[in-house]
Amino acid sequence: MSQLSEFLANHHQQNIEELKELLRIPSISALSHHKEDVQKTASWIAGKLEDIGMEHVEVIQTKGHPIIYADWLHQNNAPTVLVYGHYDVQPVDPLNLWETPPFEPTIRDEKIFARGATDDKGQLFLHIKAVEALLKLNNKLPVNVKFCIEGEEEIGSPHLPQFLSENKERLACDVVIISDSDMWDKGVPAITYSLRGLCALEFTLRTANTDLHSGSYGGGVQNANHLMVQLLSSLHDATGKVNVAHFYDDVVELTEFEREQMKALGFDEEKLKQSLGLTNLTGGEKDYPFSERVSSRPTLEINGMWGGFQGEGTKTVIPNEAHAKISCRLVNNQQPEAIQGLIQKHLEEHAPKGCTVQVTLQDTGNPFLTPVDSPMIQKAAEAYQNVYGKSPVYKREGGSIPIVSDFNHILDVPVVLMGFGLPGENLHAPNEHFHLENFDKGILTICDFFERIEK
Ligand code: BES
Ligand code: MN
Ligand code: MN
Repeated sequence: MSQLSEFLANHHQQNIEELKELLRIPSISALSHHKEDVQKTASWIAGKLEDIGMEHVEVIQTKGHPIIYADWLHQNNAPTVLVYGHYDVQPVDPLNLWETPPFEPTIRDEKIFARGATDDKGQLFLHIKAVEALLKLNNKLPVNVKFCIEGEEEIGSPHLPQFLSENKERLACDVVIISDSDMWDKGVPAITYSLRGLCALEFTLRTANTDLHSGSYGGGVQNANHLMVQLLSSLHDATGKVNVAHFYDDVVELTEFEREQMKALGFDEEKLKQSLGLTNLTGGEKDYPFSERVSSRPTLEINGMWGGFQGEGTKTVIPNEAHAKISCRLVNNQQPEAIQGLIQKHLEEHAPKGCTVQVTLQDTGNPFLTPVDSPMIQKAAEAYQNVYGKSPVYKREGGSIPIVSDFNHILDVPVVLMGFGLPGENLHAPNEHFHLENFDKGILTICDFFERIEK
């Protein structure tokens, strides 16, 4: 056993106890009554970074939740790696579906169950543990390391882009490395080379200046819910394509090579149907296979719609107002703000006669796409190969990490997405968990990566 493996084996129990401590703090960024908990988590992590020997540790306040910075810069002739991760988590409802409470981390079958276990506290913490192990064993690191950790990823990173722009010098590096994504399967690592972006908006549709009695006026006046249904159904055509003018104009198609590679990888649609309790997987564009529709194609989804009476029993009413929330997953080179504009225009132009539509624009995040043959990605692949005994799959992720594109463009450096999560770990859902095997192997892989790029 290598010195490092031995060290990690000896510290395994201690590391898990510390991870549990981190998972106990309910750092839900979306809920204002958890603001103190988010602060507390930032202080906890900053303290940990101090303890392991990182320098210039700072908790930087923003108008929202804090950013944590730390560095270790004593290798004059080696590259600098910037590690990004997020310590905020998603809300936990529905609470009654958790087998053990979300903020009481529990180990069952070699998995740790808690909100944030895989997204992203567990995956972030393994980087801290990798740095700790190398510093304890060697008194130095093979490369320069900077940490930039945020507490607002799950709410769209509203303050981090500005921080990047204003701190280019402090954050300067040769590569950004992030573990906030999935492996391909148990024992099969993956490097994610593409993320989808997103944009969101909501709107209100109005008809008369008041709700109306459906007996006195029914058959005579417009019903806001009916018009809403019409308007929403105009957003897709019969083949499942998004029916908004110019929506697809900037979409970069898959290369033949990528398409072949995706096919070769295969995807078990039967197994997915089983696990989701579905009879078919026919959402989205009919002309594209499932694996492409959930990764390399853009989408438009109705996330919420409401209007009229929703209480107990019957109410004979014609509602004068209806509401909907829409969001899109975007791919390169779609511009989130431009797409919002196209959708707004569509809604205003297709609003049925006799109603008004009032649109509120919400979050945006850029998509990300990077070549898989870049030197840093190749080093990451070698590190995976060395630890897992298997070269990684290159995959496109359908989810979003909006700040990735900003790291890439603002700092002008490659970003490597080395995930240690597994599909099915219930991120954002009840019973989120993280396989401890990948916590341990993740630490080894990150140490290996650092040593590999030293040269
Ligand atoms: N870590 C996820 C992104 C992700 C999801 C990676 C699935 C791999 C597999 C990230 O924390 C996330 O949830 N992103 C949000 C961003 C949004 C809140 C702006 C998403 O994709 O919905
Ligand atoms: Mn995440
Ligand atoms: Mn998430």
